[in-house]
Amino acid sequence: MSSCILWFLFLQVIHHSFSISFARGESEIDKLSLLAFKAQISDPPEKLSSWNESLPFCQWSGVTCGRRHQRVIELDLHSSQLVGSLSPHIGNLSFLRLLRLENNSFTNTIPQEIDRLVRLQTLILGNNSFTGEIPANISHCSNLLSLNLEGNNLTGNLPAGLGSLSKLQVFSFRKNNLGGKIPPSFENLSSIIEIDGTLNNLQGGIPSSIGKLKTLSFFSLGSNNLSGTIPLSLYNISSLLHLSLAHNQFHGTLPPNMGLTLPNLQYLGIHDNRLSGLIPATLINATKFTGIYLSYNEFTGKVPTLASMPNLRVLSMQAIGLGNGEDDDLSFLYTLSNSSKLEALAINENNFGGVLPDIISNFSTKLKQMTFGSNQIRGSIPDGIGNLVSLDTLGLEANHLTGSIPSSIGKLQNLADFFLNENKLSGSIPSSLGNITSLMQINFDQNNLQGSIPPSLGNCQNLLVLALSQNNLSGPIPKEVLSISSLSMYLVLSENQLTGSLPFEVGKLVTLGYMDISKNRLSGEIPASLGSCESLEHLYLDGNFLQGPISESLRSLRALQDLNLSHNNLSGQIPKFLGDLKLQSLDLSFNDLEGEVPMNGVFENTSAISISGNKNLCGGILQLNLPKCRSKSTKPKSSTKLALIVAIPCGFIGLIFITSFLYFCCLKKSLRKTKNDLAREIPFQGVAYKDLRQATNGFSSENLIGAGSFGSVYKGLLASDGVIVAVKVFNLLREGASKSFMRECAALTNIRHRNLVKVLCAYAGVDVQGSA
Ligand SMILES: *[C@@H]1O[C@H](CO)[C@@H](O)[C@H](O)[C@H]1NC(C)=O
Ligand SMILES: *[C@@H]1O[C@H](CO)[C@@H](O)[C@H](O)[C@H]1NC(C)=O
Ligand SMILES: *[C@@H]1O[C@H](CO)[C@@H](O)[C@H](O)[C@H]1NC(C)=O
Ligand SMILES: *[C@@H]1O[C@H](CO)[C@@H](O)[C@H](O)[C@H]1NC(C)=O
Ligand SMILES: *[C@@H]1O[C@H](CO)[C@@H](O)[C@H](O)[C@H]1NC(C)=O
Ligand SMILES: *[C@@H]1O[C@H](CO)[C@@H](O)[C@H](O)[C@H]1NC(C)=O
Ligand SMILES: *[C@@H]1O[C@H](CO)[C@@H](O)[C@H](O)[C@H]1NC(C)=O
Ligand SMILES: *[C@@H]1O[C@H](CO)[C@@H](O)[C@H](O)[C@H]1NC(C)=O
Ligand SMILES: *[C@@H]1O[C@H](CO)[C@@H](O)[C@H](O)[C@H]1NC(C)=O
Ligand SMILES: *[C@@H]1O[C@H](CO)[C@@H](O)[C@H](O)[C@H]1NC(C)=O
Ligand SMILES: *[C@@H]1O[C@H](CO)[C@@H](O)[C@H](O)[C@H]1NC(C)=O
Ligand SMILES: *[C@@H]1O[C@H](CO)[C@@H](O)[C@H](O)[C@H]1NC(C)=O
Repeated sequence: MSSCILWFLFLQVIHHSFSISFARGESEIDKLSLLAFKAQISDPPEKLSSWNESLPFCQWSGVTCGRRHQRVIELDLHSSQLVGSLSPHIGNLSFLRLLRLENNSFTNTIPQEIDRLVRLQTLILGNNSFTGEIPANISHCSNLLSLNLEGNNLTGNLPAGLGSLSKLQVFSFRKNNLGGKIPPSFENLSSIIEIDGTLNNLQGGIPSSIGKLKTLSFFSLGSNNLSGTIPLSLYNISSLLHLSLAHNQFHGTLPPNMGLTLPNLQYLGIHDNRLSGLIPATLINATKFTGIYLSYNEFTGKVPTLASMPNLRVLSMQAIGLGNGEDDDLSFLYTLSNSSKLEALAINENNFGGVLPDIISNFSTKLKQMTFGSNQIRGSIPDGIGNLVSLDTLGLEANHLTGSIPSSIGKLQNLADFFLNENKLSGSIPSSLGNITSLMQINFDQNNLQGSIPPSLGNCQNLLVLALSQNNLSGPIPKEVLSISSLSMYLVLSENQLTGSLPFEVGKLVTLGYMDISKNRLSGEIPASLGSCESLEHLYLDGNFLQGPISESLRSLRALQDLNLSHNNLSGQIPKFLGDLKLQSLDLSFNDLEGEVPMNGVFENTSAISISGNKNLCGGILQLNLPKCRSKSTKPKSSTKLALIVAIPCGFIGLIFITSFLYFCCLKKSLRKTKNDLAREIPFQGVAYKDLRQATNGFSSENLIGAGSFGSVYKGLLASDGVIVAVKVFNLLREGASKSFMRECAALTNIRHRNLVKVLCAYAGVDVQGSA
């Protein structure tokens, strides 16, 4: 018996010491694994300096061990500036429950060995540069609760077995290059709360079995290439708070009872698909909405009443074919006056008729963006619009509005983008506009505005664009307006009745790229100070009564591409320096110019110049068929006629050349199309985020031209088009980047001016700082 007890004790002792040595051996493995992990990190930062022999590894920074055994249970080294690859030895840390390496610079693949971490609950590898496929056997980590792979460069398909992670609650793989279909096994993610696969390249449809995920609350697969119809079962998941399927290719209709089956929905982002049919009237029953994004679909009919959504911040319904041009089309607006948190209301590019209702004056004072452009809205702008003190974007362009611009507009102290172009507005431009120092763009083109341009506009020292063309404006150009040094993109005052001379102050526009003051009644000489506008690429002063010589100071306009001085009374010789500039087109026709035509630069190309309708020109290249220049003495009258007769047809042929060049090349730069009135349009192509990033030098601070509560504006040069763009980054509509997000954005800012480069915009959610 006693020997038995002794044996037992002996065995105990043996066993104990064996356990200890076994445990020691195991923890030795952990230490070696950690060192192997460190070895794969090039140039280890400060954070890993404590990983040395002077400390037990359980005290190394970022390492947490369990109490009982000295085994690593947590490794948290997020945001530690680690650069390198993830060692396969990580798979030997067999007690690991948490691994956080997000926001570093890990490259190469995620090692397959990760599948040995069967105790792992939290795996966060987001915001690195991992490449390759998601390890197929990651589904062996059956205890995973949270799996975050977002913001990497992962490719291939989602592993077929992923669905067996029955405890998984959060799964984010947004912002990668994952393709293929959604694995059918997803139906078995029975604990899932959040799925975020935005910004990938998933194909095919959403399996109908998705309806089995009864705990799903956040479901975002926006900006993929998914197609088919949205399965009805998805609308049965009453736990859904956030549903985003934007920027895909879904078609079909929304179920009429949608607002009843998804009573908790707060965010509905289904914009940029091919959805059709009516907007379900039951949306009104989902009273928790904060954002409804329906833009860019093919819906029809009227907008149902949307009252009782006290938390609604964004209602985006642009370009979806709503409205019938009828009087009551806008009646849904009455139901929005109780949404006291409304910040953005975009209904532009639809078919809404009726009168702009006074009720808009009662909208939330938090409203920042109101875009009603390109509809058939009548009536006048209510005086109460001045109540909407948070507005930063007000777009009412391309409607049938009449009456005058209320002077209460001056109360909109946050207004940055203001578009009223292409209406029938009359009266004068309110001088109170000068109270809005946040203004960046004013476009009132193509109205019937009268009176003079208020000098108070000179207070708007953040203005980038001022467009007042095709109105009835008279009086002189105020020198204050030409002293807006921020005016860097457009100054367009063409086709008005402006008189007086071009003020000397024009020389202060040193950053301006585009100036069009054509077709007015300006007189006097071209001021020498114009030579200071060194950024000018396009200068149009044609169709005025300008006289005197072509100012020698224009020599310093080195960026100039298009110059039109035609249809004035300019006299003297054609200055030789015009041939030294990098002009692509030059129109000097119908002036009183005389003497020798230069032969270099733009003058070498008959299709780029127009010089007809001048008195006494001679010389130039042979194809111009001008008479030879005689000695400096006065020329005989007879040759004048010849020059005229020859020059006119040549100019005409030149025009045809320019036109066909435009037609065939789809010229993307703005080119002055000489005196025929071809639209001076700069076509707007969808622009990819990466191009914008490149254009703005990575949204660098040097390119920042304006910032405010409304967001930031960057100036950039699009490499592909050579077009200068302003990129506006919104704070508000953070729906995430996408291949086509520019479309929505462009319409939201919605600049319809023909001369304007579109002001592009991006979302803050796109990660402007570019850590992805
Ligand atoms: C080792 O780690 C300790 C503790 O962080 C630190 O004080 C020491 O400088 C480190 N030694 C080396 C050689 O990095
Ligand atoms: C990412 O890490 C950098 C330092 O490496 C830090 O400045 C930044 O705030 C981190 N970002 C996030 C989102 O944690
Ligand atoms: C640790 O992992 C590496 C790579 O997976 C493997 O080669 C090695 O044998 C493992 N070491 C131990 C002691 O298990
Ligand atoms: C990755 O970066 C984005 C943008 O900075 C941030 O919102 C997100 O939380 C980060 N993800 C992780 C896992 O840190
Ligand atoms: C992703 O990979 C592509 C090419 O494979 C590369 O150009 C890009 O820079 C990578 N992006 C990141 C965030 O590592
Ligand atoms: C995945 O696990 C299976 C066993 O479940 C194994 O046969 C296979 O080799 C593993 N694949 C990889 C790539 O590790
Ligand atoms: C889901 O799990 C069940 C039970 O384990 C299994 O029979 C079924 O095949 C799984 N579904 C898919 C699509 O893998
Ligand atoms: C998107 O899916 C369609 C088929 O639905 C396919 O023709 C197209 O090539 C896909 N586009 C991309 C970018 O994968
Ligand atoms: C939605 O749920 C209801 C009630 O639970 C059920 O009768 C119906 O079949 C479900 N519809 C779909 C498409 O799953
Ligand atoms: C839906 O909302 C409307 C309007 O508020 C209300 O009349 C109706 O009873 C609601 N339906 C349900 C099922 O709650
Ligand atoms: C707005 O709220 C007020 C007070 O709660 C209510 O009397 C009114 O009917 C509501 N208007 C709409 C359009 O829902
Ligand atoms: C706004 O502008 C008007 C007209 O220019 C001026 O009389 C008024 O004082 C200005 N108000 C403020 C608050 O600046």
